[in-house]
Amino acid sequence: MTLTVKSVARVSLVSTLVLATVGAAVLAASPASGAASTLAAAAQQSGRYFGTAVAANKLGDSTYVGILNREFDMVTAENEMKMDATEPNQGQFSYGNADRIVNQARNQGKRIRGHALAWHSQQPGWMQNMSGTALRNAMLNHVTQVASYYRGKIYAWDVVNEAFADGSSGGRRDSNLQRTGNDWIEAAFRAARAADPGAKLCYNDYNTDNWSHAKTQGVYRMVQDFKSRGVPIDCVGFQAHFNSGNPVPSNYHTTLQNFAALGVDVQITELDIEGSGSTQAQQYSGVTQACLAVARCTGITVWGIRDTDSWRASGTPLLFDGSGNKKAAYTSVLNALNAGTGTTTPPTSTTTTTSNPGGGGCTATYSEGEKWNDRFNGQVTVSGTDNWIVTVTVSSPQRIIATWNTSASWDSANVMTARPNGSGNTFGFTIMHGGNWNWPAVSCRVA
Ligand code: XIL
Repeated sequence: MTLTVKSVARVSLVSTLVLATVGAAVLAASPASGAASTLAAAAQQSGRYFGTAVAANKLGDSTYVGILNREFDMVTAENEMKMDATEPNQGQFSYGNADRIVNQARNQGKRIRGHALAWHSQQPGWMQNMSGTALRNAMLNHVTQVASYYRGKIYAWDVVNEAFADGSSGGRRDSNLQRTGNDWIEAAFRAARAADPGAKLCYNDYNTDNWSHAKTQGVYRMVQDFKSRGVPIDCVGFQAHFNSGNPVPSNYHTTLQNFAALGVDVQITELDIEGSGSTQAQQYSGVTQACLAVARCTGITVWGIRDTDSWRASGTPLLFDGSGNKKAAYTSVLNALNAGTGTTTPPTSTTTTTSNPGGGGCTATYSEGEKWNDRFNGQVTVSGTDNWIVTVTVSSPQRIIATWNTSASWDSANVMTARPNGSGNTFGFTIMHGGNWNWPAVSCRVA
């Protein structure tokens, strides 16, 4: 079995030497085409957006609006679309401040993320005091009314915000909405889909950045369950509020990749990182690179423009200083966006992803192998049974070109079915990546 592995690696290395030369020539030529000079333009080079939270009461500040118009192509209302703002009295809707933001953005050709239709926080007083069926119906009516009002104008809605508990439980947060029944989240998503079929529907939360945290796993299981039952969910938002007590995790790319492998887009929705200077700048570029390394990470939004605009201004967590000057963090994000995808530097993560823990009677764990310009190796270890069937799904333009320690067949270009061949419970494969470094999705069941 070792022989097979080695021969695959050797074949790959020989062809890589040739391709490395070609790749170097392409890379050397690319800077001549010119790097983009704004965040939005730099993000657009890879088909992504770069957004910011906007406050309606700052739209008269010319420095603020100047930076907004120049740098960003996606806008989130910081507070103006929340439940307390849009339905201050039951059945009486108020869109003035939200519309100011929406109109300013649309006049400038920017898109809009809607935030947020249902949340335990920033509820109007009348709703805070409600419970049971009356609250469930009021929540669904709110989702329907607000999503209908903005139908056709919203790129993605945060349908439900912050519904999971912090700490080790991995379960739901207690709230008046949660107490109306565990299905409140899927009910909200169904109502939003009916009201605006063109908007992407996201679940949005914080402290879900570290793959090993229970809260991250809890949200992952919910999204997996929604996808398996056809609940309409299109995206997961990662708020990404970081500071020294909650730093950018080293496995961020793993988290984004594993969620994307469930068949949803991922978005960084409220990014801010407390700190200053090169430490802050490095963390910002790390987050940017993690998004760029995941094909379905469609964009990044920062939670405000200047440090003084921030909801946690004392932590100076944003890309512009109080006078509107670009900080080191700005330059590091811009450079990371301009470096983009398709360089010869693959993501460096070496952590693992698992699928079906217990669910299919076994667990399949993926881990990265060697990487080359044109291909990478991966391996899967199965536990829980010796009699497994593992499905490995790669995403276009990737294709699997070799396997070892398994008996495998392909029933379509992207889906491989692997079974034991007497070599134990770890098998490997080589994927031609075509510039897409995403990990395959793996799942296993007992034969
Ligand atoms: C914050 C706003 O920035 C503040 O102005 C407001 O006082 C409180 O809410 N998670 C979210 C955002 O989803 O809506 C929050 O925004 C920050 C945390």
